[in-house]
Amino acid sequence: GLVNSVELFKKAIKGGYAVPAYNFNNMEQMQAIVQACVETKSPVIMQVSSGARKYANQNLLRNMARGAVEYAHELGYDVPIVLHLDHGDSYELCKDCIESGFSSVMIDGSHLSYEENVELTKKVCEFAHSRKDYVTVEGELGVLAGVEDDVSSEHSHYTEPSEVEDFVGRTGVDSLAISIGTSHGRTKFKPEQCTRDANGILIPPPLRFDILEEIEKRIPGFPIVLHGASSVPIEYVKMIEKYGGSLKDSVGIPEEQLRKAAKSAVCKINIDSDGRLAMTAMIRKVFAEKPEEFDPRKYLGPARDELKKMYMHKNINVLGSAGQA
Ligand code: G3H
Ligand code: 13P
Ligand code: NA
Ligand code: ZN
Repeated sequence: GLVNSVELFKKAIKGGYAVPAYNFNNMEQMQAIVQACVETKSPVIMQVSSGARKYANQNLLRNMARGAVEYAHELGYDVPIVLHLDHGDSYELCKDCIESGFSSVMIDGSHLSYEENVELTKKVCEFAHSRKDYVTVEGELGVLAGVEDDVSSEHSHYTEPSEVEDFVGRTGVDSLAISIGTSHGRTKFKPEQCTRDANGILIPPPLRFDILEEIEKRIPGFPIVLHGASSVPIEYVKMIEKYGGSLKDSVGIPEEQLRKAAKSAVCKINIDSDGRLAMTAMIRKVFAEKPEEFDPRKYLGPARDELKKMYMHKNINVLGSAGQA
């Protein structure tokens, strides 16, 4: 069955890698995730956002994740699969997901005052941890730039290292999402924050590894989570634009930075946007090259294959989770 993230994070901290957390909204994404993680023998966290719940229905997604466990078995390798609520915004939502069978939840109180965040996160932990099957809880300190689901944050700020020990101690969270310069979506930095290479490609400023180090000193060995960790691969951006799309000022987190993060206490890395780019790039290509095609399987199939290829690359070359299941 589905597992919580306790053992996966213990192993990831020890082994110096990060467990992939991939968002899914539909069957093709679920299949690509499972195929890639079975083939690379990687543990995986399949996560459901509020947007996903609205789009696809929470119960359908939950049953798809249960099906994913059987699907992995059928493909020949039982990789551990976590079903995680991404950016839960209330106690009620977390409770509902836990009662319906999610093995892990995030309560995102990062937009609240510190004390309100502590109180809300603690309440979710008390419920999640009292279950017969212990459900893991991710909290967040610090505000990422841009938009976190419906919770838009006008003023982003980095995680304050002096708060983490108190937060973790008082709430009982199992992992902590932090803000060190990543953000959600395909435009992670404003062009004026970046430099440009000879080809005019945007080069983003580095993540604040100094803050991460400060955090690690205060809570040694505690599992850290990185949201907004898509790389926004230039090949996909170019492919989408070649076939009629427009993705001005796209810029993500360079793979080298994520490789470095994965070796640290960062043991969960969230990736959604890159999957959207991979699917869209391939679907646009099929439509451009085969205008007569109208069977959804003929464009969703190639998109699924491209997505799988990308997830395998992440597991093998970026997160280091391949071979760890
Ligand atoms: O954290 C944001 C994720 O990329 C999910 O986004 O709410 O559009 O599904 P979504
Ligand atoms: P990206 O937009 O960088 O893929 O981030 C996804 C995320 O953090 C989901 O919680
Ligand atoms: Na790690
Ligand atoms: Zn996120």
